[in-house]
Amino acid sequence: MYRSRLKGRLDEHVLAYLSSMDEDSSLLHYDIVGSEAHSIMLYEQGLISRDELSRILSALEDAKQISPEELKVMRERYEDVHEAVETYVIERAGMDAGGKMHTARSRNDQVALDLRMKIRDDITSIESAILDLIDVLLLRAEECVDAVMPMYTHLQHAQLGSFSHYLLAYADMLFRDIERLESCYARVNLSPLGASAIGGTSLPVDRERVASLLGFDSIVENSIDATSSRDFILEFCSSLCITMLDLSRMAEDIMLWSSTEFNYVELPDELTSTSSVMPQKKNPCPLELMRARASTMLGVLAAAMGIVRALPSGYSRDLQEGKRLVFDAFRITYESLIIMKQIVSGLIVKRKSMLDAAERSYAIALDVAEQLVQRGMAFRVAHRLVGALVAYAHAHNKGLKELSMEDLNSALHEPLYRDTAELIASILSSVSPEVSLSRRSSKGSPNPREQERMIHARKERSKGYRGMVSTREERLEHTLASLQDMVKSLVMR
Ligand code: ARG
Repeated sequence: MYRSRLKGRLDEHVLAYLSSMDEDSSLLHYDIVGSEAHSIMLYEQGLISRDELSRILSALEDAKQISPEELKVMRERYEDVHEAVETYVIERAGMDAGGKMHTARSRNDQVALDLRMKIRDDITSIESAILDLIDVLLLRAEECVDAVMPMYTHLQHAQLGSFSHYLLAYADMLFRDIERLESCYARVNLSPLGASAIGGTSLPVDRERVASLLGFDSIVENSIDATSSRDFILEFCSSLCITMLDLSRMAEDIMLWSSTEFNYVELPDELTSTSSVMPQKKNPCPLELMRARASTMLGVLAAAMGIVRALPSGYSRDLQEGKRLVFDAFRITYESLIIMKQIVSGLIVKRKSMLDAAERSYAIALDVAEQLVQRGMAFRVAHRLVGALVAYAHAHNKGLKELSMEDLNSALHEPLYRDTAELIASILSSVSPEVSLSRRSSKGSPNPREQERMIHARKERSKGYRGMVSTREERLEHTLASLQDMVKSLVMR
């Protein structure tokens, strides 16, 4: 369609190589709606007549019915969805009307528009999926406030904690993922249309009018920036990449803890896969794939950044390659969030195994040392004393609470620890995992009361975000519904 400058048809292999029709199917709807708003503006600015507008809009409305089969045929004929839709409109509305649709517009500002419209919807879908996962985490946390377990650093027992505390940590990370997406939304929700190929137009367009018809907050002002910047894609992909990294760490924990050796949690059967040969197998395959897809996301982000790196200013066809990356990023993250929600919701929590591990653990050591600090001992002395106790207990294959008076006397023979055996015996007799947690008093600790406060605060926060997302969604739906009404009334003359 655009080849009057060039001789002959585009080589068929080159067309297949150039074409973005495959990934463009997810932009079809946005391309049509964007073209409707653009055409209305052209009419309002006196650039096309009322009759031409009606014919264009009626063809665009028909284009909304393009079936998957028709799209397949179009794939073999066009370089991209913009060319396909324009040709479709010209075929129906005639060249005298349809041929005016692309006035004061370029595929460069058009593709940026389509992408921005798709990504703002994607952000809303991802935020809602994150909130669904957060709500399940909070629900499970509520049940697990008193599910004591060892916490790990370096994958070694560190301090005692609770399963709720673990779940809440991920809820907080996911809240930050929402914050990042929210701030990204503000930069995505700007209209590039009217920037033309790179340098604007001599025709009297109203860029703000198109922006407002399509529910954008404003425009991307500079026409070079509007057509050639893709930082909004990089930002979106990196935000999703961070979410996938969060999910991959959760996936890893759950896989580890569902192993026979840990036995802290179990996945419901319907979320696991088995072996074709080993009849006993219950494999956490969805979590393994999530872990791997987090790596795919790293590749997606690196590829997206690589496309923009050192690209000359202005549109280059390289940018087309970024589209499929954005669509992959969305699909991977969205699907993973849904699966993780199901996993957290169905997870069988084995409190007894967790408690047994906590009771067998030396992870209570810091709590014992802090008891000594409370009685006036310097922390560094308490640290050394309890370290010596643990070394003795470990060498004698005992737990701290199993140490007899005799053990304590031999473990604490250094002059520095003189006369502490009785005190230690009384402290050890009073400590237990539950007591340790109830004594933790710092803000954000696994103390059960603190857990309840945190869960409550996060439930409120989740409600607030849901309200914000749905208000924004409703506002956009309302704007687009008004545009649709306008289109309908302009079509029926
Ligand atoms: N298919 C292109 C893309 O997805 C559209 C813009 C093409 N512009 C151009 N001047 N060739 O990025």
